[in-house]
Amino acid sequence: MVWGVGEWSEAGFAVLVLLQCCSAYKLVCYYTSWSQYREGDGSCFPDTIDPFLCTHVIYSFANISSNEIDTWEWNDVSLYDSLNALKKRNPNLKTLLSVGGWSFGSQRFSNLASNTESRQTFIKSVPPFLRAHGFDGLDLSWLYPGRRDKQHFTTLVKEMKAEFAKEVQPGTEPLLLSAAVSAGKVNIDHGYDIPQISQHLDFINLLTYNFHGAWSKTTGHHSPLFKGQADARTDRFNNVDYAVGYMVRLGAPANKLVMGIPTFGGSFTLASAETGIRAPASGPGLPGRFSKEEGMLAYYEICDFLRGATVHQLLDQQVPYAIKGNQWVGYDDPESIKSKVQYLRQKQLAGAMVWTLDLDDFRGSFCGQNMRFPLIRTIRDALDAP
Ligand SMILES: *[C@@H]1O[C@H](CO)[C@@H](O)[C@H](O)[C@H]1NC(C)=O
Repeated sequence: MVWGVGEWSEAGFAVLVLLQCCSAYKLVCYYTSWSQYREGDGSCFPDTIDPFLCTHVIYSFANISSNEIDTWEWNDVSLYDSLNALKKRNPNLKTLLSVGGWSFGSQRFSNLASNTESRQTFIKSVPPFLRAHGFDGLDLSWLYPGRRDKQHFTTLVKEMKAEFAKEVQPGTEPLLLSAAVSAGKVNIDHGYDIPQISQHLDFINLLTYNFHGAWSKTTGHHSPLFKGQADARTDRFNNVDYAVGYMVRLGAPANKLVMGIPTFGGSFTLASAETGIRAPASGPGLPGRFSKEEGMLAYYEICDFLRGATVHQLLDQQVPYAIKGNQWVGYDDPESIKSKVQYLRQKQLAGAMVWTLDLDDFRGSFCGQNMRFPLIRTIRDALDAP
């Protein structure tokens, strides 16, 4: 039989889809709804996302209202639709909705999870909401459960997973359940029963960044791969390697652990003429032109910052920092990202998580080479490399 062009291209398409289908590693990418409000070229909507870049996209954040999952932004429903429309182009893409986050706070989760009735109300509200809006799962962003919440967090995870199992219909896949988990040793010790939650979660998004900030009054990289020679005893836990190793020792299966990689830098304002690592800092760095938050810069803002800046490599920690005037920023570049991906592959982790899609150079207009999502693209290529 001779295939007509129609059949041939359909077969060709099927082969392509198969090839793109089962990347060995997860690449879990967060998108934040407030990025729509950044001005000019900083404004990011879900339809900008390349549907073939990540294996999972997580929409941040949903609210909880009257103990039920609810929207956060006035236009969430239309943004949910445009995010989930990406799946028409890549049917293998999975989308999750993240509930909670920093501005939601820990107390409200604490109240909800500790009361059997309100916890059940919440859990029951989730599957219909996710299905109605076309999501494939839920991500719990309780930042962070404290000492008294540990048991309640485990119960919440366990009961949510049971509800998802009960909800599954013939012909539909069960909803996925993940959680964003702190990478700080103290938070891990206080808040999580790692073996228990690991059992019920499909994967764990380890927040391996924000290890260092202006609170410590000295410069330091916020997401170093390894401990630095200059690190004091108290700082020895504040690196990706320690957090990953600790989670595994506590019983998190490597094949459920997704290692966070930031597309933002952590910045400081220098207090003296000293400019190295552990130099005195008077406070956080100046807000970026688009991201407008002190102490952090989007990667696309860092690309601008680098013009006229001095770049240094922290060879022991395998990450760069840059200085210009009295501003100091520690960030990730394609080189440091390759080291991190190599590391997570060696440890046979489930993959990489990115905070966030909208802080990478998503337009490809800031960092040169006309490449959209240069950092996430680097992660993807490093994960796919043989
Ligand atoms: C989230 O829900 C709470 C409780 O109903 C409500 O007070 C708050 O305004 C909501 N937040 C947003 C951004 O809608």
